[in-house]
Amino acid sequence: MNEILILYYSQGGAVRNMAQLIARGVESVPNAKARIRTVPKVSTNCEATEPEIPASGDPYAELQDLEECIGLALGSPTRFGNMAAPIKYFLDGTTALWLKGALIHKPAAVFTSSGSMHGGNESTLLSMMLPLMHHGMLIVGLPYSEPALSSTSTGGTPYGASHIAGSMDDKPLSDDEKKLCMALGKRLAETALKLSR
Ligand SMILES: Cc1cc2nc3c(=O)[nH]c(=O)nc-3n(C[C@H](O)[C@H](O)[C@H](O)COP(=O)(O)O)c2cc1C
Repeated sequence: MNEILILYYSQGGAVRNMAQLIARGVESVPNAKARIRTVPKVSTNCEATEPEIPASGDPYAELQDLEECIGLALGSPTRFGNMAAPIKYFLDGTTALWLKGALIHKPAAVFTSSGSMHGGNESTLLSMMLPLMHHGMLIVGLPYSEPALSSTSTGGTPYGASHIAGSMDDKPLSDDEKKLCMALGKRLAETALKLSR
């Protein structure tokens, strides 16, 4: 199956909106399909935990999703200039895949939403690449042949897609941010199909 896994965490919905646009970009490529998965919040062992199956929204990711995909788009809100704990926690549980080399040579792209323009969205994207490189994945960014990368006055970086959601996390995605989400999904799917031949 030529599936691209779109794995994200979102508390307020901004990163979820980006995931849906990236999926549209993936599915604009013939023979590519998007599989969207999220991860639960992290709680300490003295707190209540969530049910194993979410009551609504996208299903929770399993290691098998990573194994089965031919490419990965990983999305997280910016938290103190870094990825959110639930995404890091999920990645920390992927040692069995690392030992098997299950993700080596698969392409991966990253995306994030931040409150402010200079509040660390680029450092978040870079930090998300690190564990993926340990897994041997090939990082796919956005080239400047995408006109929106030069015209954007909001989010969008060569390192991956980004969105500036504002201090109340309520700004909709700009047209340029949307175009770059879709371009990233499309480029990832095209690359994954070429590499999986
Ligand atoms: C604990 C925490 C830390 C955050 N750190 C940053 C930050 O470093 N820089 C920034 O611009 N926004 C920061 N934000 C804002 C979020 O990145 C922003 O609201 C994002 O759009 C949330 O995505 P979501 O709606 O998918 O949950 C932070 C929010 C929280 C709750």
